[in-house]
Amino acid sequence: MLKDDIAKVMFTEEELQKKIAEIGARITRDYADAEEEIYCVGILKGAVVFYTDLVRAIDLPVRFDFMIASSYGSGTVSSGSVKILKDLDYDIEGKHLIVVEDIIDSGTTMNYLMKYFRERKPASLKLCSLLSKPSRRTVDVQIDYCGFEVPDEFLVGYGLDYAEKYRNLPFIGILKPEIY
Ligand code: IMP
Ligand code: MG
Repeated sequence: MLKDDIAKVMFTEEELQKKIAEIGARITRDYADAEEEIYCVGILKGAVVFYTDLVRAIDLPVRFDFMIASSYGSGTVSSGSVKILKDLDYDIEGKHLIVVEDIIDSGTTMNYLMKYFRERKPASLKLCSLLSKPSRRTVDVQIDYCGFEVPDEFLVGYGLDYAEKYRNLPFIGILKPEIY
């Protein structure tokens, strides 16, 4: 079974849902007076599971958009370069943008993408990441809505993969070392 490859559960489904409800409530409060709808940009594929739960925790109109960016091969170490494989569908100039990401590790991907979004002149730009590994940061990234800070362990599940596997685990766990 898929979960037999997990050494330790880091966040259960219940812990994830509780945190997401909190973040959704904060976003709902923070944007309650916004005159335009919020554009939530999910970074595929890792953020997709978090994204679908998060948008349902926001009690305001939300427009969906997605981006595919890649800084990784299939291993566990970032290569440092960022490629945009799918761009935004909408013109975001003058819009409220919330970027939704699964995890900020070295910060390379998001540092690059936030600059890219800023150049498109949104009315506001915020970053929401479920996880952050501060000890791994090599470039600075401001996270406006952060779910959990995590230690330097390779995590899978709830969207996070190892070589495209484990994304569909409903919780987040540490992979057994013998798997990679
Ligand atoms: P960064 O550019 O180094 O911040 O890398 C960010 C991306 O690396 C994330 O969007 C993930 O796709 C991937 N990543 C970083 N740490 C992990 C992890 O522990 N498990 C799975 N993917 C990870
Ligand atoms: Mg990712």
